[in-house]
Amino acid sequence: MQNKKSYYITTPIYYPSDNLHIGHAYTTVAADCMARFKRMQGYDVFYLTGTDEHGQKIERAAREKGMEPSAYVDGIVVNIRELWKALLISNTDFIRTTEKRQEDVVQKIFTRVYEQGDIFLSQYEGWYCSPCETFFTERQLLEGKCPDCGRDVELLKEESYFFNMSKYAPRLLEHIDSHPDFIQPESRRNEVVNFIKSGLEDLCVSRTTFKWGIPVPFNSNHVVYVWFDALINYLTGVGYLQDEETFKKYWPADVHLMAKDIIRFHAIIWPIMLMALDLPLPKKVMAHGWIMLEGGKMSKSKGNVIDPRILVEKYGVDAVRYYLIKELSFGQDGTYSEEILVNRINADLANDLGNLVSRTIAMIIKYFGGVIPEARTSVALDDEIQAFAGQVYLEATAKLEKMDFSGYLHAAARLVSRANKYIDETAPWVLAKEESQTGRLATVMYNLMECIRIALILTAPTMPTLMERANQQLGLWDKIEEVKWDEAGIWGMAKAGTQVTKGESLFPRIDLKTLGEEEKKEPVALITEPQIEIEKTEVEDGYISIEDFARLDLRVAEVIACEKMKKADKLLILTVKMGDEERTVVSGIALHYTPEEMVGKKVVLLANLKPTKLRGVMSQGMILAASDEQFVDVLTVTKDIASGNRVK
Ligand code: MSP
Repeated sequence: MQNKKSYYITTPIYYPSDNLHIGHAYTTVAADCMARFKRMQGYDVFYLTGTDEHGQKIERAAREKGMEPSAYVDGIVVNIRELWKALLISNTDFIRTTEKRQEDVVQKIFTRVYEQGDIFLSQYEGWYCSPCETFFTERQLLEGKCPDCGRDVELLKEESYFFNMSKYAPRLLEHIDSHPDFIQPESRRNEVVNFIKSGLEDLCVSRTTFKWGIPVPFNSNHVVYVWFDALINYLTGVGYLQDEETFKKYWPADVHLMAKDIIRFHAIIWPIMLMALDLPLPKKVMAHGWIMLEGGKMSKSKGNVIDPRILVEKYGVDAVRYYLIKELSFGQDGTYSEEILVNRINADLANDLGNLVSRTIAMIIKYFGGVIPEARTSVALDDEIQAFAGQVYLEATAKLEKMDFSGYLHAAARLVSRANKYIDETAPWVLAKEESQTGRLATVMYNLMECIRIALILTAPTMPTLMERANQQLGLWDKIEEVKWDEAGIWGMAKAGTQVTKGESLFPRIDLKTLGEEEKKEPVALITEPQIEIEKTEVEDGYISIEDFARLDLRVAEVIACEKMKKADKLLILTVKMGDEERTVVSGIALHYTPEEMVGKKVVLLANLKPTKLRGVMSQGMILAASDEQFVDVLTVTKDIASGNRVK
């Protein structure tokens, strides 16, 4: 026990300015999946999440409700804890930045960095965006507004403490260079490197314009900048300066997980703070994409949120977690849709996995009196499925190790599909008719049990109640909590002689049409557009259905930069803006448009086309154009429709 290897994973600490939505749930469920995976691998896991409770944004949200900030956040934090309970989040600790342990550590760190000269007092004048808690220079503003959220900014002048970041920039660049895994995925790494190379300014790390924060210990006119405070939670959570033994065991963190919006804080400011403290850097900073709704990123301030608790009540925790983990491709954005959620439950969970279990149990009952038989005679097909399961195990493990969550679940789902196909290929009902085939029939049943056992282990980090529920029918394990991940890589662990019993369906099919109109709308109540009714229409030859078309995520995108691809006559590299998001798109239009002609155009982008590398540049989508033998005409939007809006 003493020598167990440790694993420390964190989520961002969320702002309790409002209740959380499925975007936050995504990060927390993904980190939970990782924590459970590592525990099953035998690691001693510390999984930290919590809330970031200081700052002007929270203070204002509280005042708007006529409340004191502390009473306001207390209420929201209760909801957040309940949400994590409903989603079966297995966090080791929950840290609130208003706790004394955090205040003590933040003040000690601030003092230390000040005393060593890396923090100093000066004057600050700049444009401040309160929702983003960030200062901008005039040059950084976009049309006079916040470049991140597009809202109004205010000119503030104040005496502030500054953190000398540029001093550490060369060391950070060197670290990034010598640790290729430090910032993931690679696109984010490049973004961070370019940002650092463009020159780091001193960071303003104190505020005097409001009071809701941790006081600077030696100057009570100032409170510590909320991000300086918040990032330190990752140290406080594992006992820095308070419980050295725990700290030694878990620091440096194995991974800080978050969405791409806050990668710069974690991959630039945070490592530099740690360098100033002479502490080792986290092993990995990993940024996933955003869950979008039609019209842009889901955000508390836009009010277009989906409440995950309602989804859990309607569809069950396993199904909601499965959907979240599978939906967001590695490093990419995904679009939330209740239709897709229901389709996933029906297709992957009810049809594939649930059916595999119930069919296998029914056959074992029918052909072997409910007792799992021993494998006897096998043919090549039986060996093949065994090898297939082995490959799936390796692939799922490798994908999860690199935090390609959806890739991992796709691998696991392939085993389930393969096992269903194996039933069709082996036709047990035919084997059962001939006594001479009993040995083969036994092998087929045993192999199906093995596929189920392996699939249940592989999906356990995602669906925490499934193994237990399935085991009530399968009787495969005595103690679920002792099942190890590696057992999925070993063929033949299902015990022959075990009794199976028929039970309730693991994932009942959901008929969207039977959900009442109100119920159907509930989780998406704040989206103004009506949901598309999903109805299976017959598709005639040559036609596609409206659902097929709806799978294309066509968006208005504004070209904000454009250049010719070197050594490629026909290719332009476009940087387009789609709502809050920027993308790089390679397009074969260079013979028809100059880069200057393209900048400023609002084009139509196929946004969910699988990204692909073209001449070494990752192209994230495709712009549409009409063409004949002579002309190529890029489709544009002529009215003033903001980028990010859907084209349909
Ligand atoms: N308080 C800071 C983080 C400080 S960490 C030291 C903060 N909080 S937040 O409440 O705004 O949460 C941001 C994080 O929530 C994102 O980085 C991501 O992990 C998660 N998400 C919020 N909205 C999301 C989506 N729409 N999609 C995916 N993740 C989302 O920033």
